[in-house]
Amino acid sequence: MTAKAAQQRTTSGESPQVGPEPFTLVVFGASGDLTRRKLLPAIFQLRCRGLLSEKSSIVGYARSDNTDEGFRRQLRDSTRDFLACRDRLADEKSWSDFASRVFYHRGSYDNPSDFASLRQRIEALAAADNVAGNCVYYLATAPAVFLPIVEQLGRAGLARKGRSVPWARIVIEKPFGRDLQSARELNECVGQVFDEGQTFRIDHYLGKETVQNIMVLRFANSIFEHIWSHDYIDHVQITVAESLGVGARGEYYDGAGALRDIVQNHMMHLLSLVAMEPPVALTAEAIRNEKVKVLSALRPIPPQCVPSSVVRGQYTSSVVDGVEVPAYQQTANVAKDSHTETFVALRLYVDNWRWTEVPFYLRTGKCLPRRCTEISIHFKDVPQVLFNRPPIGPLAPNVLAIRVQPDEGISLEFQVKVPGPAMAIKPLNMDFGYADSFESAPPEAYERLLLDAANGDATLFTRSDEIEAAWKFVSPVIEGCSVGSVEGVFEYPAGTWGPTQADELIQADGKTWHFD
Ligand code: BG6
Repeated sequence: MTAKAAQQRTTSGESPQVGPEPFTLVVFGASGDLTRRKLLPAIFQLRCRGLLSEKSSIVGYARSDNTDEGFRRQLRDSTRDFLACRDRLADEKSWSDFASRVFYHRGSYDNPSDFASLRQRIEALAAADNVAGNCVYYLATAPAVFLPIVEQLGRAGLARKGRSVPWARIVIEKPFGRDLQSARELNECVGQVFDEGQTFRIDHYLGKETVQNIMVLRFANSIFEHIWSHDYIDHVQITVAESLGVGARGEYYDGAGALRDIVQNHMMHLLSLVAMEPPVALTAEAIRNEKVKVLSALRPIPPQCVPSSVVRGQYTSSVVDGVEVPAYQQTANVAKDSHTETFVALRLYVDNWRWTEVPFYLRTGKCLPRRCTEISIHFKDVPQVLFNRPPIGPLAPNVLAIRVQPDEGISLEFQVKVPGPAMAIKPLNMDFGYADSFESAPPEAYERLLLDAANGDATLFTRSDEIEAAWKFVSPVIEGCSVGSVEGVFEYPAGTWGPTQADELIQADGKTWHFD
């Protein structure tokens, strides 16, 4: 089945999007990769879609010397390279109108006078446009300077805590802390300068259409909710597989590893959306309340239990599709004897009524055979009385697979009779693909998230207690890994599905990893 037929019956079209009031977006870390690859292309795209007021402006803030003109030239080149809809750039006017609203401000991240001059600049822009002077501060820097920036914003009177006109909001990139303790400290320091309602902790996974669709699938369809529990579900798998290695991010990654880089944030969000109870309303607070409850119900994996529940791996060199892939330890800025994990598989339990004793298997890694993020819900076997026994069975159980990326969609694996006189049964897929069913490509996650932050909608951002609940689960796992870290990291050749120990982890429970 394709979703086309069903789509024709839907009553709602595209939900109307609302552009925010004019504001100044100040991007700290303006010379960095994230700004060039994601943020500026996203904000340009919002402008092209008419969702950014002509009176909004962008101020890039960084330590390196640059000018407004120089910054605009760099952005034009990088936007051309990284914008999904490049045709927009062909229209010179769109770009030059946008570029005329882009400025560069050189400054250090801890110097009060640089922030005082930033304030003057923001006020001058607002006065020239006769607008209120609303601000979104985007921290796209290394985490080490998050705190100095927050402090300086407060000291310069730019945080406007407790004031709604003109408003100020802060968007903080991941990683938010290195463990529970540092996340708490960061929350506390940010909380002294900004209200929680002004604070937007970003995780770009929440901006992905398919991630937002998890709630729609579960709660906008009547057929799933009553089977969404331990009564019918045998286990759940969440895979975030990447085919690329660490690339130029060796320095950051070697201090982080897959547990901090992917599990603590992206995977915890996917898990909580799949496992949460229906929220009482579609509000940021109601949804995040339910997500926090899931994270708080995670059965702790104390350090001594890590070896039986967690498998870590690190890729070694290999030839993939005829191309030599260097080992992780040969990556620039990675320690030659590094024990940082580039792969993790783990088993966890959500200790509440709905999910009692249902294992959730999480798996993520770099340099795996392909890029694929998928959540698969594995239903229980049918009884053995009719078909599920020889000579017809054993039958594969039903699997509902949510493909987050690429080839975004949902499929249901179920059994059908093979035509003919014999009773033979075969598993088939009912498949819905976004690309087949909707004409336009989904917007980039950063577009949606920037728009929501500017509109003050925190639904797709992480609340302080949510981030702490995620760390509360992940921190002891990281601690457990650092005990005996050498033996605890298994090698896997680049281009394979991780160390064999990851297969053994799930096979020990009589299950196997789901690939397609
Ligand atoms: C980032 C991680 O948060 O997500 C990267 O730091 C990872 O290591 C990336 O590659 C994956 O994002 P996406 O959208 O490509 O799945």
